[in-house]
Amino acid sequence: MSETLIEVKNLSKHFKISRKLVLKAVDHVSFEIKRGETFGLVGESGCGKTTCGRTLINLYSATDGQVLYNGQDISHLPKGKVLDYKQRIQMIFQDPYSSLNPRMTISEIIAQGLNIHFKMSKREQEEKVNALMADVGLTASFGNRFAHELSGGQRQRVGIARALAVEPEFIVCDEPISALDVSIQAQIINLLIKLQKERKLTYLFISHDLSMVKHISDRVGVMYLGHMVEIATSLNLFDEPLHPYTQMLLSAIPEAEPDPAKRRKSVKIEGEVPSPITPPPGCKFSSRCVYVKDQCKLEVPTLKEIRPDHFVACHFPRVCEEVSSC
Ligand SMILES: Nc1ncnc2c1ncn2[C@@H]1O[C@H](COP(=O)(O)OP(=O)(O)OP(=O)(O)O)[C@@H](O)[C@H]1O
Ligand SMILES: [Mg+2]
Repeated sequence: MSETLIEVKNLSKHFKISRKLVLKAVDHVSFEIKRGETFGLVGESGCGKTTCGRTLINLYSATDGQVLYNGQDISHLPKGKVLDYKQRIQMIFQDPYSSLNPRMTISEIIAQGLNIHFKMSKREQEEKVNALMADVGLTASFGNRFAHELSGGQRQRVGIARALAVEPEFIVCDEPISALDVSIQAQIINLLIKLQKERKLTYLFISHDLSMVKHISDRVGVMYLGHMVEIATSLNLFDEPLHPYTQMLLSAIPEAEPDPAKRRKSVKIEGEVPSPITPPPGCKFSSRCVYVKDQCKLEVPTLKEIRPDHFVACHFPRVCEEVSSC
């Protein structure tokens, strides 16, 4: 589990809003994703999770930085390797309805990638599509239907089958359950976990549902205003968050069975997320952080490993239990 599959180095994606304004949706972000793991990416709406996921798989071209996939820079692949790379990576989208072509049958949608990446007879293709539908819990009778005839959960199963068709090794799951009924969410998550085990898949799991991220992820990255502010194993991040922003996010999760011994101090932070077009200088979180000091307003903190496998970008990181004495 320790082999690196993807190395993101100083990745930036800036959008030019007007002649003078630039929105830094992702700004100098670095992290790695290990083969076979689920790396969760969390943060409030607009912090750059989707942009990061899309830039990471070259759907958006990076403004700066590099993404190494199996050690190879994806923005400088030799011509012969581009199709091979596209086969290895897939994306599952938030809204399974708008991502499925309404004029194609479910079979045709799932078979699209097969036509591009594999040479198969019509019969082989039909068998493969049926096997994929069975893998995601759909009977063969769904093959002739259209997306509008399916429920949200069934559509997401089609989205997953379509992604699996090309036998990828890495899948970006961008809020794959947030458009679904709560009763269906667990089914789709369990399906993703089952498929990961069976097919040794690596996931980037983007979500603002922290409980779900905790459940599914091996390691988690926390983004704020285009910056990665903390990376740790799921266990460490949820037990001992070190960045005040992560502490704020976690204190907002309702606990089903609160353990008084482990109860975190509630970290209330005033204010709204600043505009990404005019972020504060220094630490991007400084305008909302109750522990802010002068240095925070001037210097951008870099991500440092301050405990084994626990990285934080904060000038004054602290564990939550200590917070009450501050
Ligand atoms: N194509 C684009 N052009 C201009 N700005 C964009 C574009 N895509 C995203 N942005 C901006 O970049 C920032 C990050 O957006 P992004 O969609 O990556 O955030 P997110 O974390 O995925 O949010 P959400 O949780 O709402 O999905 C936002 O301020 C957004 O408005
Ligand atoms: Mg998003």
